[in-house]
Amino acid sequence: MAKVLIVGGGGREHAIAKTMLASPQVTTVFCAPGNPGMVADQIQLVAIDELDFAGLIAFARNQKIDLTFIGPEAPLAAGIVDAFLSADLAVFGPSQTVAQLESSKVFAKQFMQRNGIPTAGYRLFHDLAAALVYSERAPLPQVIKVDGLASGKGVTVATNHLMATDALTQAFETTDTVLIEQFMSGFEFSQMVLVGGEQYGLLPTAQDHKRLRDHDEGPNTGGMGAYSPVPQITSEIIQETIQRVITPTLAGLKREGLSFNGVLYVGGILTAAGVQVVEYNLRLGDPETQIILPQVTSDFYQAIQDLMAHQEPQLTWQEDETYLGVVLAAPGYPGSPQLGVAVPTIAGANYAGVQGEPNQLVSAGGRVMLVSAHGADLATAQQRVYQQLERVPTGNLIFRTDIGAKGMRSVVNFDSPA
Ligand code: GLY
Repeated sequence: MAKVLIVGGGGREHAIAKTMLASPQVTTVFCAPGNPGMVADQIQLVAIDELDFAGLIAFARNQKIDLTFIGPEAPLAAGIVDAFLSADLAVFGPSQTVAQLESSKVFAKQFMQRNGIPTAGYRLFHDLAAALVYSERAPLPQVIKVDGLASGKGVTVATNHLMATDALTQAFETTDTVLIEQFMSGFEFSQMVLVGGEQYGLLPTAQDHKRLRDHDEGPNTGGMGAYSPVPQITSEIIQETIQRVITPTLAGLKREGLSFNGVLYVGGILTAAGVQVVEYNLRLGDPETQIILPQVTSDFYQAIQDLMAHQEPQLTWQEDETYLGVVLAAPGYPGSPQLGVAVPTIAGANYAGVQGEPNQLVSAGGRVMLVSAHGADLATAQQRVYQQLERVPTGNLIFRTDIGAKGMRSVVNFDSPA
């Protein structure tokens, strides 16, 4: 019987831990550091920070952990997998070098260019003056991206030159590497792939909602809600994504000596010119994972073990229903979220930035929980989630009221973002 350690403390890690616990092979799931909202689901919290590699390795050794699964991007970018492998411990995640596909937008763009993977054109700048001169003349909208990890918040879509100037000025206050990308209009979706060397297994498609407010207004966030699968992303489009993106990405990594075990998250966009890549992530997406993993009907722990052995994973999931989740966040998110705001207890919810006693949780970060439901179609799933939210005291927490709306439009509008 197996013991699993999940590194991370958010809603994604809550979902991974529950899915691991559903495996008949798994007896114990630890989450480091986890959060007190996980305790009701028999997940054992370990008070070790996700960046304390020595502490995590010592814990994994002492507890004879069979598999460590890395949730968030920060420890991956800091080399946690290299550290675990050096300690001869089984770990699912990419090396620090491969994680640069997420942690460095420049690395990712250059990799895509080298390997013929479709993505937006871009220019790279190391000083503000040159960026401003280019931006003044370049067509709008412009996508301004700070190189490096930014929890989904390092991207500005500037629709006028004043916005572009402000975004560039702010960006160069924190970094000396900024990209200005062409804007791609179309329909965004997430396609996650579990990878084990040359073997891989697709997960169901999902669509995230990155903007804070309804109708995709307000600042970018880590993600305010998601649904899965995405009706507009047909099996033909999934095949196109495999052909144009997933196969050449894995082949390119192999050619460059970078084959890995872990997650490849394709942030895709369906445009008039076909599927293009908005971004790669090298870990499960949050919140998407929280409504994808409950759909898995096979033994998830076994699928990961198969991939670690570079064998084809047995991965199946339900195909009859749509799953939808709405994120609740503390007021002030994504800027400075208020701490200590009451967070309700809802059976089946996943918790993230919370502290306190399990039945008296309060906010300790931005996104605090995700409430989800499933139903025969997207409209039913959406109705069920919002009905749940009407019945509980959500107080001052903020959430979008239109998660899933884009998926209910039958026609994909290639002239609008997402
Ligand atoms: N949902 C987007 C992300 O995980 O980066």
